[in-house]
Amino acid sequence: MSQVATPSIQEQQFLDAFQQAIETQSFDRMIMSQYKGELEHLEKMTFRVIQLQNQDVLSCLFRYKTNDVTKNYTLNEALPIVQGFLQQCKQANLMTNEQELQLKKNKKKDMLTVSKQQPISSKTAEQQGHDRTKHRYVDQNSYFLQPLGITDAKAQIIPSMSRKWKQINKFVEIFSGALEQLPNHQQALKIVDFGSGKGYLTFALYDYLAKNKITPFVTGVELNDKMVKFCHDVAQQSDFTQLDFFQGDVRTYHPETLDVMIALHACDVATDFAIHTGIRLNAQMIMCAPCCHKELRPQLQSPIVLQPMLQFGIHAGQQSEMLTDTIRALLLKAYGYETKVFEFVALEHTSKNKMILATKRKDYIEPDQAVLAQIQALKAMYGIRKHSLELLLNDQWDQQDIGSKC
Ligand SMILES: C[S@@+](CC[C@H](N)C(=O)[O-])C[C@H]1O[C@@H](n2cnc3c(N)ncnc32)[C@H](O)[C@@H]1O
Repeated sequence: MSQVATPSIQEQQFLDAFQQAIETQSFDRMIMSQYKGELEHLEKMTFRVIQLQNQDVLSCLFRYKTNDVTKNYTLNEALPIVQGFLQQCKQANLMTNEQELQLKKNKKKDMLTVSKQQPISSKTAEQQGHDRTKHRYVDQNSYFLQPLGITDAKAQIIPSMSRKWKQINKFVEIFSGALEQLPNHQQALKIVDFGSGKGYLTFALYDYLAKNKITPFVTGVELNDKMVKFCHDVAQQSDFTQLDFFQGDVRTYHPETLDVMIALHACDVATDFAIHTGIRLNAQMIMCAPCCHKELRPQLQSPIVLQPMLQFGIHAGQQSEMLTDTIRALLLKAYGYETKVFEFVALEHTSKNKMILATKRKDYIEPDQAVLAQIQALKAMYGIRKHSLELLLNDQWDQQDIGSKC
């Protein structure tokens, strides 16, 4: 980071308010945008307080043009870091439980405005502080976590489920960040979770939205009838009246509308069907973490120059996985989505840690031919004849087998 200069009066007032919010535990979040510093393609930063190893830390989600990076800072080291970034951004918004401060800079001067914040809930400050130390995105006290086997009867995380717990929280964190990017404030959201399994995410998203005053309409789609029955029962016990589960193949589920399509580890080309439904229905947000990649591997032919590398089976597998997801990401881009591909949870928690996150651009009119040409070039180079998502988007899918479950 470049040298930190003396803050302007308005910057200092903003920093004082930030520090006070941290000290009084009234800090909700802070967003800095219109970054003008040295980090290439950095668009904005969102700061929140989360708990790591029983300690509050300031977590910053750095949103770059094509990926997101999270860094955590101890509360002691946070102030100079925040000050440095503040001086490199033209706008900053600080949300506390009591007020919102907005700092805007133009060539002539810095402008600081303060507005009263509507109380988030009727909880006391003490209760809010207590909740925050529990967790930031998914409320550890939520009842649904118990029947799902994440928490015990005392709302403590069951040790063997701590990785799943981390994964769910990370997913909701990414979802929440992407939601903030959507052009209009959402009062209700229709979400379909393809390959919902035991429903960890389906329940967590429903709960998160309801607690954030967005009416959730959520459907999980799942092949396994036992899991569907289980999820129905848990939804009923949790009083999640607008959470539903459809038993069947993702290919046979045809909703009429949806705002958000998610698919976490939906097997093989089930991910392609899910993305296709999202694109076809103009979903505002598409989030998927692809699972096993079987379709391209048998088709992959090595370009001569890559033969020394791809002679090793593991490399050919990795290459076909990368190619599968690159074509997915490019198709999303071609069909009007701003698309990011990134590691969404550290490898130590799961090996299936790649996320494709796409948000609909306002200015989309028709598929971008230049991006489609890039896909054709890649396919030609690797001898790829068929990619399910491409076939589906071109209406060329011919009822082939969906591929085995992993
Ligand atoms: C690895 S699990 C992931 C579950 C859940 N999304 C999660 O992350 O906890 C994949 C789930 O997708 C389901 N699935 C696989 N292929 C499917 C298909 N074609 N249609 C519906 N569900 C499918 C499987 O039964 C399984 O429960």
